[in-house]
Amino acid sequence: MCGIVGIVGKAPVAERLVDALRRLEYRGYDSAGVATIHDGLMERRRAEGKLFNLERVLAAEPLPGTIGIAHTRWATHGVPNETNAHPHFVDGVAIVHNGIIENFSELRDEMSAEGAIFVSQTDTEVVAHLLAKYLRDGMDNHQAMLATLNRVTGAYALVVMFKDDPDTLMCARSGPPLAIGHGQGEMFLGSDAIALAPFTNRITYLVDGDCAVMTSRGVEITDFSGKPVSRQMQISQAAALMVDKGNHRHFMEKEIYEQPEIISHALSHYVDFSTGTVKVQGEAIDFSKVTSLAISACGTAYLSGLVGKYWFERYARLPVEIDVASEFRYREMPLSKTQAALFISQSGETADTLASLRYCKQEGLPIGAVVNVRESTIAREADAVFPILAGPEIGVASTKAFTCQLAVLAALAIQAGRARGTLSAEQEKEMVCHLIEMPRIMSSVLNLVQPQVESLSRELSRFKDVLYLGRGTSYPLALEGALKLKEISYIHAEGYAAGELKHGPIALIDENMPVIVIAPHDRFFEKTVSNMQEVAARGGRIIFITDEKGAAASRLETMATIVLPNVDEVISPMIYALPIQLLAYHTAVFMGTDVDQPRNLAKSVTVE
Ligand code: AGP
Repeated sequence: MCGIVGIVGKAPVAERLVDALRRLEYRGYDSAGVATIHDGLMERRRAEGKLFNLERVLAAEPLPGTIGIAHTRWATHGVPNETNAHPHFVDGVAIVHNGIIENFSELRDEMSAEGAIFVSQTDTEVVAHLLAKYLRDGMDNHQAMLATLNRVTGAYALVVMFKDDPDTLMCARSGPPLAIGHGQGEMFLGSDAIALAPFTNRITYLVDGDCAVMTSRGVEITDFSGKPVSRQMQISQAAALMVDKGNHRHFMEKEIYEQPEIISHALSHYVDFSTGTVKVQGEAIDFSKVTSLAISACGTAYLSGLVGKYWFERYARLPVEIDVASEFRYREMPLSKTQAALFISQSGETADTLASLRYCKQEGLPIGAVVNVRESTIAREADAVFPILAGPEIGVASTKAFTCQLAVLAALAIQAGRARGTLSAEQEKEMVCHLIEMPRIMSSVLNLVQPQVESLSRELSRFKDVLYLGRGTSYPLALEGALKLKEISYIHAEGYAAGELKHGPIALIDENMPVIVIAPHDRFFEKTVSNMQEVAARGGRIIFITDEKGAAASRLETMATIVLPNVDEVISPMIYALPIQLLAYHTAVFMGTDVDQPRNLAKSVTVE
């Protein structure tokens, strides 16, 4: 996802803009650029690849100026090169953009017919040409901005600078987020509050349909018709959550190892350690009245939801319909007001998930959101918010957010079970006790498996294809393990329900395809061992992730057996997430990939 920053103030901005872009690197990008206005000139520097390339260009040709905009681009239209990098210039207009202009080809044809010369393949450049056209037609800058906003369609966050007005930045939001930072005699703009954290914690979030005119003295916000609107300024927590890698090589490694502490903090908001009960706030969803639950999310968040499905159905006898958000709303699932809908999203900005939320809201369902970013759009549009309190997750591959989502979903499922009378107080107490024990167990597991997993990963990095198998709540874990491995090591991996092996995937089994089997000694264990025997009988090589009981019970020869402590099934997904995260992480390190910002990926996908 692209990153946007802007500053209008009283001190040089170029260096601070690039620093702010660095705090947005976690979103994933493939080129970057910065533009300023100084001495009547509007100039830019752009570079393909990482920010150090842009810094090299700036070192060679510094950019003065106390007003500027900057951008990290995650390519949607046009290859990632310098020509397509933002900011885009047309006749004294500079623009940076996050999102997709859906009617860009129609507009491009229209402009070209009027003689516009396009130098890039981007949809963004069309917006700059449209602004320039309206200025040529005699509109002032703000009129041209509003006219443009009423012509373009799609999802976008835009920031515009006009050469003839070196004290004003204009911006607009229709989809991807934009935050305004209030400084002392300076004003800031960013895709999120983390980018602005060193400048200010006084933040105003634009909402869809807002257009803001910002000078060093302040900001005026209107809707796209020019009618003033008021938006509340709030104190952002992002400043307190400024992150660095500590003594870890990557953010992902840090975030894997901080899970015990983070999840303990998250749990303290959902369980009462003294009474051994859950304490979930969120009256908007009354589980005693809800007839079923619709869950929707993307990627890893979807997989935590899939684990949640097993828990809601097993412990609360609550039917759950779950689907990836990009399919959910297009299925036009028949919904009723006796249902509730739950959306899971680390960033709280994923376009597909937000679109599904709006679909359910339109159908009149109470909306719950399990999110990490409390100030996010999904959180703001939900009726009940269940924050996972994982702190900023910088690594593009989600780890601590996944286990924190699971912890919150477990608490919700217990709450639902109690509300629906399917769990007794004693059962609740026992399950909460396991949750309370979990951070300690996670900490010991991380230390226990690290050396074995690291050496195993060296061997795993030699393969081109890997299969993950699991049953019950270990099935979504198999899917998550495959997602983790493929997204950061680029090794092809698939997750399958273990019982499905004989219905096709077994054709793949030979010595060139390691099979990672996730199987605690639970009620599915024997059946999963039979699947492993089917693999072994065909020369398949097994990496067995089980517990002490499972290791003792299985006589099978494996490539490796990772033995975890025996744990209750309500926490096994969080515990078994650790070795699969470490396996993916170390394999990627051996592969030499960009672990924190894998190629082609964005931390939050704000385009559909
Ligand atoms: C997770 O490792 C991936 N980076 C990705 O699948 C992610 O989970 C997905 O894009 C959803 O993001 P969200 O949780 O911010 O909505």
